[in-house]
Amino acid sequence: MTDPRTPEDQTQPSGLQTPDGQRRILTPGSDLNPRREFMRSAALFTGTVAALGGGLEVLTRRPGAGSAEAQAADPFSRADRPLGPYDTDEKVTPYQQATTYNNFYEFGTDKSDPARLARSLKTRPWTVRIDGEVRRPQTVDIDTLQSWFPLEDRVYRMRCVEGWSMVMPWLGFPLAGLIRRLEPTSKAKYVQFTALLDPKQFPGQRQPVLKWPYVEGLRLDEALHPLSFMAVGLHGRALPGQNGAPLRLVVPWKYGFKNIKSIVRITLTEKQPQTTWALAAPQEYGFYANVNPAVPHPRWSQATERRIGELGRRKTLPFNGYADEVASLYRGMDLRKNF
Ligand code: MTE
Repeated sequence: MTDPRTPEDQTQPSGLQTPDGQRRILTPGSDLNPRREFMRSAALFTGTVAALGGGLEVLTRRPGAGSAEAQAADPFSRADRPLGPYDTDEKVTPYQQATTYNNFYEFGTDKSDPARLARSLKTRPWTVRIDGEVRRPQTVDIDTLQSWFPLEDRVYRMRCVEGWSMVMPWLGFPLAGLIRRLEPTSKAKYVQFTALLDPKQFPGQRQPVLKWPYVEGLRLDEALHPLSFMAVGLHGRALPGQNGAPLRLVVPWKYGFKNIKSIVRITLTEKQPQTTWALAAPQEYGFYANVNPAVPHPRWSQATERRIGELGRRKTLPFNGYADEVASLYRGMDLRKNF
């Protein structure tokens, strides 16, 4: 029978099941700031971190930083803005917590490893190979790719399969715009994403904890959904290494492991691509990985979650609260089998 306690509640250390059966102890987080407070203070006072020449440089944000002129000089500069149709107005997880409690196995299996080790991740120069079933296969520099699209803000919930969640203010662009620009052929049915393979930079890749490089995938209609997003920034700053710099996928109705970090290749395919966690433990992690409180993980319930910074647990919502937008993508499918 399924243990109703999540990995965090169990006295035995637990977590994502790795191929060698290793389990990880999860650590608690702390408090949150209201989103509106964040938006106001971010627009006026906070420093902006921009990735320049592979390093992080702190730029001081001035009043009026949201002007067109300021935005041209600093692509991560954002003005306060009204909520968009896909945003949540729930409390945003503070930058400090969103950037120190991470899953990024290339750096190690502890939540604190990525923040400690990602400083050395070299994100410039960085290229993304785009290939497979597209009329315009190409290798594009990340800054060129980013310049193709105006940056948008999206405040999304993120629910990890381990039973914790955050609210993340991303900066980036819709994945659909990128895919349309590449002109998929009529054979394209899926999109595969591949993360950087570089054991010199990623100590975790020197261990066979997972099959490297980390790969993920979406059905083409999922990838074209307006919620599917490519993030290049977080909290009005360039994406830190630990959160997947310089380019990371965000699909908020799916468990967090679909949100592949540090992408170097995007391939359109005819067949369903392999995905890292389904390769590691197919009985526990599927291709779809839609957030579903009705389908327990084989080792714990998915009915509730701990929002980082909150006491107690809250109910997990079908499709992480995005059912109105995405449930129709799965009409007629058995979501217990296609977990
Ligand atoms: N991407 C890569 N390349 N490697 C990883 O180990 N972990 C995934 C996902 N993307 C992971 C990854 C998991 S399990 C989660 S929950 C999210 O990243 C965590 O994102 P965050 O650290 O920004 O909160």
